[in-house]
Amino acid sequence: MNVYDMQQEILRLKKERDMCILAHSYVAREIAEVADHVGDSYMLAVKAKGVPNQNILLCGVRFMAETAKILSPEKHVFLSNPIAGCPMAEQMDKEMISQVKAQLPDYTVMAYVNTTAALKTIADVCVTSSSAVKIAKALQNDKILFIPDCNLGAFVAKSVPEKTVKLLQGGCPVHAAVRPEAVKAAKHLHPDALVLVHPECVPGVVEQADYVGSTSGIMDFAKKSNAKEFIIGTEISIAEHLQYDCPDKMFYPLTKELICPNMKSTTLVDVYRVLRGEFGEEILMDDETIAAARRCIDKMIELGG
Ligand code: 13P
Ligand code: SF4
Repeated sequence: MNVYDMQQEILRLKKERDMCILAHSYVAREIAEVADHVGDSYMLAVKAKGVPNQNILLCGVRFMAETAKILSPEKHVFLSNPIAGCPMAEQMDKEMISQVKAQLPDYTVMAYVNTTAALKTIADVCVTSSSAVKIAKALQNDKILFIPDCNLGAFVAKSVPEKTVKLLQGGCPVHAAVRPEAVKAAKHLHPDALVLVHPECVPGVVEQADYVGSTSGIMDFAKKSNAKEFIIGTEISIAEHLQYDCPDKMFYPLTKELICPNMKSTTLVDVYRVLRGEFGEEILMDDETIAAARRCIDKMIELGG
């Protein structure tokens, strides 16, 4: 079966199975083309809450499928490839953060959505890269413990200087691997290009950017900008999607290493096989975890909307 025929079959099967496909923008183009909604993790969380279908297929990584399940417990939520985890989400667990919390009782625990459902049960508020600064500003408390990403946390601390933000040593292995020298090298090659980066990059990279934002933020900025060339400092699929969407502009990945192996572990064949009931994993979670983890996600939607 060729790619086009497989996509047609996926479109037919998803109607038959009342399945809504939510895809993160880091997935490959051919998967994004068959999805009902493609976006950043905030957009996917909000969509998961409102879709009319009985079944949701999340093409992305595990914490995104867990978030969809927490927000739609009555629906069947499937993760397209069971091996697709986010290494950052596994860096800190509930026990470790409970101990830190006990030492910082007057701090609000702000958890990046890239965390496990278990850890979310003890967080006060959840954030995504697109909502973190807004939510930090909106919080009553001026003391924040930001977990797990110290780079996104540093970006929040710099953007909201009136708050005290404590950080722990976690982060995205893909974005944090980009060195500040890579920005200089890319600018040297493309002197007219604007540099757009994700706040999961280290501060030395973020400081050199013309725009810092979530995956959707980067895409919106590039589409609306009058500039013609852009260096894209986030997962390589964003440059690819933008190149299709804006053929009159040029998009250069900041480095060739900006590839998330977990996001890329889902293939179009996986999506097809999930719809045939042959692959994937249904996310199952007990009611207690769902109820406890939901509080901080609801707070994120309330303050970040
Ligand atoms: P967004 O919130 O920008 O979608 O980012 C999610 C992510 O995993 C980035 O690496
Ligand atoms: Fe996790 Fe980084 Fe991959 Fe995003 S890019 S899913 S933070 S490993």
